[in-house]
Amino acid sequence: MNLNGLIIYNGSLYSEKFIDYANMLKSAAIEKGHQIRLLKNNEMFSLLNSQEPGLLTDFDLNKIDYIIFTDKDIYLAYQLEAMGYRLFNTAFSTEISDDKIKSYQKLSVTHLPIPSTLIAPKNFMNPIENSQAFIDKSINQFGFPFVIKEAFGSFGEQVYLVHNETDIEQALLKINNRPYMCQEFIHSSFGTDIRLQVVGNEVVTAMKRTSQVDFRANVTSGGKMEVYTPNNYEKDLAVKAAQTLGLEFAGVDLLFGKEERIICEVNSNAHIRNLLDCTGINVADYMIDYIDREVSK
Ligand SMILES: Nc1ncnc2c1ncn2[C@@H]1O[C@H](COP(=O)(O)OP(=O)(O)O)[C@@H](O)[C@H]1O
Ligand SMILES: [Mg+2]
Repeated sequence: MNLNGLIIYNGSLYSEKFIDYANMLKSAAIEKGHQIRLLKNNEMFSLLNSQEPGLLTDFDLNKIDYIIFTDKDIYLAYQLEAMGYRLFNTAFSTEISDDKIKSYQKLSVTHLPIPSTLIAPKNFMNPIENSQAFIDKSINQFGFPFVIKEAFGSFGEQVYLVHNETDIEQALLKINNRPYMCQEFIHSSFGTDIRLQVVGNEVVTAMKRTSQVDFRANVTSGGKMEVYTPNNYEKDLAVKAAQTLGLEFAGVDLLFGKEERIICEVNSNAHIRNLLDCTGINVADYMIDYIDREVSK
């Protein structure tokens, strides 16, 4: 179809990873015959008053058939939807998956397998003193070591494996008053996970990541990638996880439980360069095909 698309990415992040993701999508869209433009989230400003929701921007956003929202600027995403644009992923699904606590809550009510998790009470000040009762319960619940994880984070940077009270104190000092949870550590998955990339209701490619130097399998933490062929049970689990959060595009990370698989994380904006390097599969092509089908319906 001769569609007009817009790709929105964050204008305040200087890492090449983000623009690279947007450019991969752009190339795939051009290949498909779409007209496509890249815009930064800070090139448009949401205007609210008692009229229709609007945007102040120097760009012409008429005749846009779809928007690929690669950013986490949730307010902007909701504004665009209120104005009638079709977003991939939707604002709501991006919001839920960005927040690991909200994500686990959704997955848990659907009875999908997640690590046992205790949510820290909201805190406004003195994180160490005010967390004592919660931390005592967590030690009692999980035993050492366990995982402390912030609600918002990526590249493994806001995930801590704590072995004792000193580790806990250091983690809490870093987290300060941001939301976090304590979580069962899945020993059998030390340094290893699998990433399954979901587009619509199918898994289009997957890789296994293994780190020899860290409990986190993230490539940024030293995880080495290899092609992985998921079985039907793993594929089914990944698709269910994505659908539970309402995501049409998702990078689902599964941990290796002793026998079963456990959902570690569901990313709305998983970067696909590593998958291409590892598996030779360009997920962007599948994403654009999916959008083409959806928008043409
Ligand atoms: N409960 C857990 N048990 C074992 N390993 C974990 C657990 N939670 C996270 N990890 C490891 O840490 C990595 C990063 O955690 P994740 O929740 O995916 O955060 P991020 O969004 O920063 O990638 C995972 O890929 C996994 O290797
Ligand atoms: Mg992850």
